[in-house]
Amino acid sequence: MNNKEMQQKKVFLRTFGCQMNSRDSEEITGMLFEKGYSLSDSPEDADVVLFNTCSVRKHAEDRAIGNIGALQRLKKKKPRLIIGVVGCMAKARKGELIKKLPHIDFICAPANMYEIPEIIERLIRNGKQPNDEIASSVAPLLPRNDNYRSAATDYVSATTSKRQTILAIDKENRPEIKNVAYHKKGISALVTIMEGCDNFCSYCIVPYVRGREVGRPSESIIDEIRALADQGYKEVTLLGQNVNSYKETAYSVERIAYSLSAVRCPLSAKSRNFINLLEAINKINGIERIRFLTSHPKDAGEDLFKAMRDLDKVCEHLHLPLQSGSDRLLKSMNRGYTASDYARKAELLRKYVPECAMTTDIIVGYPGETEEDFNATKKLMEEIEFNFAFIFKYSPRPPARASELKDDVQKKDKEERNRILLELQESISFKKEKEFIGKETEVLIENTCRKEERKVMGRNRQNLKVALVGKNDLIGKLKTVKINSIFGHTLVGGLTALMVLFGPAFFNEADARTPEPRPFQGKSGTEECFVLGDYENAAREAAKTLPLASAEKGKLYYISGTSLNKLGRYEPARENFKSLIENYPKSEYAPLAQLGIADSYYLNEDYRAAAEEYEKYITGYPKSEAAATAYFRLGKCAQKEGRWQSARNYYQKVKTEYPLSFEAQMASETLSEEILYFTVQVGSFGKKSNALKLCDELVKKGYDASILKTQSDGQETYRVRVGRSDARAEAEELAKRLQAEGLPVKILP
Ligand code: 5AD
Ligand code: SF4
Repeated sequence: MNNKEMQQKKVFLRTFGCQMNSRDSEEITGMLFEKGYSLSDSPEDADVVLFNTCSVRKHAEDRAIGNIGALQRLKKKKPRLIIGVVGCMAKARKGELIKKLPHIDFICAPANMYEIPEIIERLIRNGKQPNDEIASSVAPLLPRNDNYRSAATDYVSATTSKRQTILAIDKENRPEIKNVAYHKKGISALVTIMEGCDNFCSYCIVPYVRGREVGRPSESIIDEIRALADQGYKEVTLLGQNVNSYKETAYSVERIAYSLSAVRCPLSAKSRNFINLLEAINKINGIERIRFLTSHPKDAGEDLFKAMRDLDKVCEHLHLPLQSGSDRLLKSMNRGYTASDYARKAELLRKYVPECAMTTDIIVGYPGETEEDFNATKKLMEEIEFNFAFIFKYSPRPPARASELKDDVQKKDKEERNRILLELQESISFKKEKEFIGKETEVLIENTCRKEERKVMGRNRQNLKVALVGKNDLIGKLKTVKINSIFGHTLVGGLTALMVLFGPAFFNEADARTPEPRPFQGKSGTEECFVLGDYENAAREAAKTLPLASAEKGKLYYISGTSLNKLGRYEPARENFKSLIENYPKSEYAPLAQLGIADSYYLNEDYRAAAEEYEKYITGYPKSEAAATAYFRLGKCAQKEGRWQSARNYYQKVKTEYPLSFEAQMASETLSEEILYFTVQVGSFGKKSNALKLCDELVKKGYDASILKTQSDGQETYRVRVGRSDARAEAEELAKRLQAEGLPVKILP
């Protein structure tokens, strides 16, 4: 089959599971691209559908099986469609897959991954053939010196029953880790440094499906990362099941001998360990950040923490799965450390790298987990305060050893424990994330925000997502971002310089979360006065410089107009903004000038005119940077004029259409304060019971009374309010009736 024929072939590839699988999928994509395939967005539109599967928890398998099963109908319609199941579940559940899902054409283990193009070509050429099995039945890898055999039977029986499905599952280890990864065009790349795992944690299926630990030669890793840097990548995440035990392993004959004998391959004196590898990668020009996953507490220690402190590109984030805080369970899990060993390590890490984020994995409901065991985990989580934790409900994964233990924790208890830890972690994560508010953090900007066009997204060194106002040209850049708020687990902020330029006339009002202006380093004159908040001089300097300046006139007009707004000189401010719009309509400051005009009216309390100008901003600059700001201020104008319905609509719009904006939070707060109505307040109490009594009486008399709880300086006040209306006259009428009942009335707002 020549390349031209292949070119027509489209592949739909769906990936489940961890980053190792994502990287494997990139390698698969790379191999198929080399053969002339292209990617498709949907199975309906594809010639080949591949599922790269995960086996680590039952849930992951069930999801994949559901997805593969759903293709049965499509396969009937398109009999030539090739369906392949690759990855961990292919290795672990091949027998079941053949039985349950006979429409699968081939099944390929992680270690056989490089055979995928050849298998697909064979299927395209010949279709499915009877007795088309290319695998030999090899007993699975078992723990060394292990007399644990029951798993082997399952494997052998699955591979000896002859089926039409092509099985490529014979290899226990990948012959090598190739650099054929097609990295999704981007800024951050996944780089596998090792395959497999030697730890045999009792609950874990990974060593059985991914084989024994094999370190990729460091030169191959470094070559790949150099090439990535040349292509403009800025960040690499080094992948392995237990990166801290990384050691180079020789390939070819030695490797094969190693995998057969399961004896550790001798290392040459020059071989790098994980720390040496980090040191070498830290020197690669162009790469700005290094991350790694996953670490094992028994192998991560002082030398790693020191390296994290000393190597400038290594990010301050360590994912260190704890699994349990109970020593008894940790022993049964074969983890090789105690709860106090772990706590000491966490403390040591924080000593060396105080700003390091720590994340973890926890399993609840492991066989035999008592309330006491569970509480030990909870207590340790409270003590350590992880930045984030993945909480998993235990599921037996044969042939992993723990699957022989009775899965005796009731489903409802697993669920309850899961919920308790999720809630606990949520509050700790939030507390940790809040610490970023008002601070600057370094962000590597990776892409545009899916939810909001005018925003870009990145991650800080602690691996938290950050959203900020900005355009595509920021992608790939490292920027200092000042954080104003949090949305979900995403920090929301702005470039320090941009925040200063963004409608500073308003930022007084935008409350304490607004950053202080920060001077532009090394610049002087007009701009410096402006960013320092010396508006008097900024306006004067701008007026002086404008007739002389040959460039950046738009900016000068903008500074001048905004400074005048700040000084309360609204007419001349508008003159400046209008000149900017007339003379430099294409300037990036023109939209901001329109916003400035609107602000000038707003600040002058002419809300009608302000609203008109904000509308002009929205319609005149439909792709504008500050639509959320404009809509929010339209809400404010409506609110000031008592057009409640309209105000509510604007705030609602900001909340739903610009959920990550700074204004969304303010809008949401305003909506929840229940101030966007006329209402009559008839009393205000320090004691809830008193408020309740009055409220009850009024309700009995047929009034629409309710209580609003407010808090200020830690003191709670309960206010009794009657009626909610968009019309003042209605509220006045109601107030009269309530007054006649002898109540003290106050019309709000
Ligand atoms: N059941 C539940 N969680 C599991 N994990 C691994 N095996 C199991 C299992 N059988 C979790 C561990 C591991 C993470 C990747 O998945 O917490 O760190
Ligand atoms: Fe599984 Fe333990 Fe290896 Fe992690 S270290 S992959 S949990 S066996």
